[in-house]
Amino acid sequence: MKVSVIGCGYLGAVHASAMADLGHEVVGVDVDQRKIDALSAALPPFFEPGLPEILASASESGKLRFSIDISAVADATVHFIAVGTPQTQGSAAADMTYVEAALDGLLPHLKPGDLVVGKSTVPVGTAQKLADVIEASGTGASLAWNPEFLREGFAVQDTLTPDRLVYGVENDSATEILDEVYADALSKGTPRIVTDFATAELVKVAANAFLATKISFINAMAEISEVVGADVTQLADAIGHDVRIGRKFLNAGIGFGGGCLPKDIRAFAARAEELGRGESVAFLKQVDAINLRRRQRVIDLALNEFGGSVVGKRIAVLGLTFKPASDDVRDSPALDVAVQLHGLGAEVVATDPQGIENARLRHPQLTYVDAASEALTGADLVLLVTEWDEYKNLSAQTTGELVQNRTIIDGRNVLDAGIWRSNDWKYIGLGRP
Ligand code: UDX
Repeated sequence: MKVSVIGCGYLGAVHASAMADLGHEVVGVDVDQRKIDALSAALPPFFEPGLPEILASASESGKLRFSIDISAVADATVHFIAVGTPQTQGSAAADMTYVEAALDGLLPHLKPGDLVVGKSTVPVGTAQKLADVIEASGTGASLAWNPEFLREGFAVQDTLTPDRLVYGVENDSATEILDEVYADALSKGTPRIVTDFATAELVKVAANAFLATKISFINAMAEISEVVGADVTQLADAIGHDVRIGRKFLNAGIGFGGGCLPKDIRAFAARAEELGRGESVAFLKQVDAINLRRRQRVIDLALNEFGGSVVGKRIAVLGLTFKPASDDVRDSPALDVAVQLHGLGAEVVATDPQGIENARLRHPQLTYVDAASEALTGADLVLLVTEWDEYKNLSAQTTGELVQNRTIIDGRNVLDAGIWRSNDWKYIGLGRP
């Protein structure tokens, strides 16, 4: 099939490459010349495992090209909208400017029978509005809503072998076109849910709201555990054995971040208010509040270590990205904690295997070093805030020889407390005694 993908960020660049990998003829379009130049040279503009390989092979096969010029979509019959819907400045709602601009750009190039496919995460009701605009344009094109559930770090795998496909459609021909696009996944038995626009839009926000709630639930249990001296990691293991609950997404720590969960729950709450159903998802405000309190907890623990002031204290921050296997620092709890401690007068020395460049762009005031050993040298306190393998596997003994003071706050509860304590460390976990 001839496919276009509008927006070449974390979602669109992976989607375009994966579609080409499956044999479709794909053009990716973005307004950012830097991204287009990098992708045209088969270089991903961000870190995502597996992407360099499929981008290179698809580019080489001639199935994939990129353009800054929206008219490049003219040959395609299926057009994916994969632009961002960030949080609006000064409001909880999603900023729909990019989605609207993408459709405006597409309209003059649509032909009868073309299918526009929304992938971006949007407030419920958006698809119907966009479908009305397409209908009124008289182009003979139509719309489908096909939310994306990819996780950064596993984006290629999640796109090539999704755990489910959701189509929000108004007619069978849209379903047939999407079935052709996803023929490979469907032939492997991927479940497919064909539904209306509103349900398809809601599936995405509901999934992210559920995941965020699960994380904040266990972090709330961490808060209680801290008061009574219980261990939240054992609690998670124990309740997770109940298959109705499940162990995944029950890792207590400094909480969730990234370009999706935080802004999606805020946008969902804002949309529910608009719909007159604010109370239905009022709990999401608590989910957000619990999440942000965990960052504060790490700062309070650091302050406690030094009698209430971190001024002049050298703090090694291990991790800047919102999670491992990503270079993404959007709404990252790790970076937030580093910035706040710097603001309180600490001498923060931060490191990360992939996130330094993005962190420096946003917060040039911090000191960044490439090697963990450099960050650790002479540290008065160590914070492990993103669970990269290299930090999970740190040796308590070797690390102890580098630092000034053997105290570590394990913001992701990934270290073996017993081993660190037996190496004369003061080990502090979150929600662990
Ligand atoms: C999320 C959804 O998982 C994905 O389906 C959706 O399409 C986009 O949003 P992503 O943002 O890539 O994906 O990250 P995810 O793996 O969900 O992690 C989100 C955050 O939650 C990270 O900061 C992670 O550290 C944190 N987290 C996750 C926890 O704190 N505890 C957990 O148990 C799991």
